Amino acid sequence: MEQSGKLKMKCQNLSKTFRTPNGSFEVLKDLTFDVRENEFLVIFGPGQCGKTTLLYMLAGLEGCTAGTVEHNGQLVEEPHHSRAVVYQTMALFPWMTVKRNVGFSQKVRKVDKQKREQDTQKFIDLVGLTGFENSYPVQLSGGMKQRVGIARAYCGDPDVLLMDEPFGHLDAQTRYMMQESLENIWENEKRTVVFVTNNIEEALYLADRIILLTDCPGQICKEYTIDMPRPRSLVDPEFLRLRKEITQQMNANESNSLSAGNRAEMEQK
Ligand SMILES: Nc1ncnc2c1ncn2[C@@H]1O[C@H](COP(=O)(O)OP(=O)(O)O)[C@@H](O)[C@H]1O
Ligand SMILES: [Mg+2]
Repeated sequence: MEQSGKLKMKCQNLSKTFRTPNGSFEVLKDLTFDVRENEFLVIFGPGQCGKTTLLYMLAGLEGCTAGTVEHNGQLVEEPHHSRAVVYQTMALFPWMTVKRNVGFSQKVRKVDKQKREQDTQKFIDLVGLTGFENSYPVQLSGGMKQRVGIARAYCGDPDVLLMDEPFGHLDAQTRYMMQESLENIWENEKRTVVFVTNNIEEALYLADRIILLTDCPGQICKEYTIDMPRPRSLVDPEFLRLRKEITQQMNANESNSLSAGNRAEMEQK
């Protein structure tokens, strides 16, 4: 598919097979796609189809069995602070205040104290946590912890943000609020984002482009460019049309893989 914008990341023929005591297990198969500068790319697929594995491969946290990942033309072989990961459950430091958690990456990189303090406050404000600078993670709700995680990722000034279902564990109402908030931050602080989810509304609310993965082993089934104006309404006719189209495609994938499974079972008998 023709895409505009400068190339940021490039994944070519990516595959991943885990070796387990019970044999090898193919999780991802032959994925080729680009990530463009400042785009909000959503990787959407069913549970267990390899989304987290794929995101970790983009981050350099997990190696590829075949294929390559490039970031700004360089092979990704290990983690780097230019690629920040926002995890599914927040990996905050429980002994640090919100302020220290958010400023952590800058502190490690010995960023000048004044700039660190300015940036920390800016991102705490942007995620709506003003007044909670000196709170500890244990004093915060689930949604607030995710806000800290997002502020921390942005504050490290990464080139690419990799987000693994960061709102997956939140209740529906908090999840909507977080989606709105993230959209808002992304509009203010344009950045390249790769966001993984198995929630269709979340994908359509946030994405410039959606890559739909099949069941395990995850393969690219289809790409959708989403050009509805922002902020989006969940009841916009175009939103509802796309939701129906993508859900139908996903259900078709599922029944194909079920019948393939049945076939394999029959052949074994
Ligand atoms: N280190 C590993 N070793 C063996 N299997 C793994 C490993 N990591 C993930 N898997 C398996 O790979 C499949 C895909 O996992 P994951 O990438 O977490 O999927 P998703 O994020 O789409 O739910 C799962 O069946 C999971 O059990
Ligand atoms: Mg996952």
